[in-house]
Amino acid sequence: GAPVEVDISALKPGEKITVEWRGKPVWIMKRTPEMLATLAKTESQLADPNSDRKTYPTPEYAKNQHRSIKPEVFVGVGICSHLGCSPSDRLQPGPQPSLPDDWLGGFLCPCHGSTFDLAGRVYKNKPAPDNLEVPAHMYLSDTRLLIG
Ligand code: FES
Repeated sequence: GAPVEVDISALKPGEKITVEWRGKPVWIMKRTPEMLATLAKTESQLADPNSDRKTYPTPEYAKNQHRSIKPEVFVGVGICSHLGCSPSDRLQPGPQPSLPDDWLGGFLCPCHGSTFDLAGRVYKNKPAPDNLEVPAHMYLSDTRLLIG
C-alpha cells in the first residue's frame, strides 16, 4: 500500500483522529502535558514498557517512553495485538466501567479486556501479547505526517 500523507495542523491537544493506511485504522493523537505525565506512572504495570517485544517491532525513533517522534503526537495502529479487535478510547483518567479505579487514561479492547496506556503500551496479565503497533512514519514538515 502507498504511504498516506496527513495534515495534523488542526489537531488540538487531547484530540485523536483516525486515518486509513493499508486497510488498517491508524490513530493520530495529540497528547496534553497531563496525558504525557501519566506515562511515567503506568510503567510498573505494563508488560513491555520499553517496547522490546518483536511481534510488532517498534521503530527505533519510537522506542522511548512516549513511543513517538514528537512527544505529544502518538501515531499507532488501532488494532489489538490479541485477535484484532479495535480498542475503544478511554482517554480520561478515573473510575469507569471495566477499568481499575486508578485508571490513568488509555484504551480498552472490548473483546477480551486488554488495556493499553496513552502510548499504546499493553498492561500486564492481559490477553494481548504486545503493545499497539507504531507504523513507520516521518514528518514532512511540522504539521505534515507521512505514514508508511
Ligand atoms: Fe483485544 Fe482479545 S482482541 S483483547
